[in-house]
Amino acid sequence: MSSDIFARIQQSLEAIKAAIIENETELEAFRIKYLGSKNELKELFGEIKNVDNSRKKEFGQLVNELKETAEKIYESHKLAQPGTEKDVNNANLDMSAPCEPILSGSRHPVSIVMNRIIQIFERIGFTIAEEREIEDDWHNFTAMNTPEDHPARDMQDTFYLKDSNTQLLRTHTSSVQARIMTTQAPPIRIIAPGRVYRNETISSRSHCQFHQVEGLYIDTNVSFADMKQTLLYFAREMYGEDTEIRLRPSFFPFTEPSAEMDVYWGLNNEDDYRITKGTGWLEILGCGMVDPEVLINCGIDPKIYSGFAFGMGIERQAMLQYKITDIRQLFENDTRFLKQFIGVI
Ligand code: PHE
Repeated sequence: MSSDIFARIQQSLEAIKAAIIENETELEAFRIKYLGSKNELKELFGEIKNVDNSRKKEFGQLVNELKETAEKIYESHKLAQPGTEKDVNNANLDMSAPCEPILSGSRHPVSIVMNRIIQIFERIGFTIAEEREIEDDWHNFTAMNTPEDHPARDMQDTFYLKDSNTQLLRTHTSSVQARIMTTQAPPIRIIAPGRVYRNETISSRSHCQFHQVEGLYIDTNVSFADMKQTLLYFAREMYGEDTEIRLRPSFFPFTEPSAEMDVYWGLNNEDDYRITKGTGWLEILGCGMVDPEVLINCGIDPKIYSGFAFGMGIERQAMLQYKITDIRQLFENDTRFLKQFIGVI
């Protein structure tokens, strides 16, 4: 009788050692069979009552050895399951298997272009100034020397807040000029990116919301030549080192003299003729020397300080850069459109 039991122990030991454990299910089956609450070894141990007294000790030792062997095997396989550091040593792990695709987002083309512009000016010491999109008419118009009867102030052109004729959605980032000049002392050297709003019919070429970047430089002895050189530097960083610019006389209520800056785009193909209306030149921004009236409005003495300002739209530059023909695509957030910018920073 007892020799039978010893033979069974031997069999179990061999079975434990030969067990095939290749995945979690097999490992769990192994655990239940040899280490679970109703495991085979317990049952074997219960047979101790049938063992001769002289061999009881030997029997106990053997069953313990069985149990320890089962535990060791279980532990070593458990460590080799996925998610543990032994993974790499597991022959069953296919390191070349493709992983779940990780979807990466993309920057919006408006952000890409805006960030590039900001970085160009940051390199020459401009700092970012961000301000509110809901403005009062003083900062947006009055301080900027825009007369009471100017058409831009009209409800037809500007979004006013409900029941208000003073609170509005800013129509240009020039309002940031007034915000900064009334709170900071010169020298001032800021770049102000942000969203602006105008009451315009939405079409492929214009939208009621768009983005601008404003620049303002106030110090002693700032000249028109300083402005021209700063903008030439910008144009060459943005559009290539050989880029040519031209300044055309223009008018803005808040600058005097005022100009519009064009960059030479070229006339190499039909698109260029269409985009530049046959001139080869593209208008990029408005600029000028800050009108002394504006400085006075904002509490800066024009006898001591002078400065220049400029403002440019972002959407048109993004459209030129990426050959986007409809401005509305920039505001629809269609992921098929946005996906094209994955990896562009
Ligand atoms: N605010 C003007 C616009 O929206 C641009 C501009 C800014 C012009 C600063 C001159 C100086 O068109």
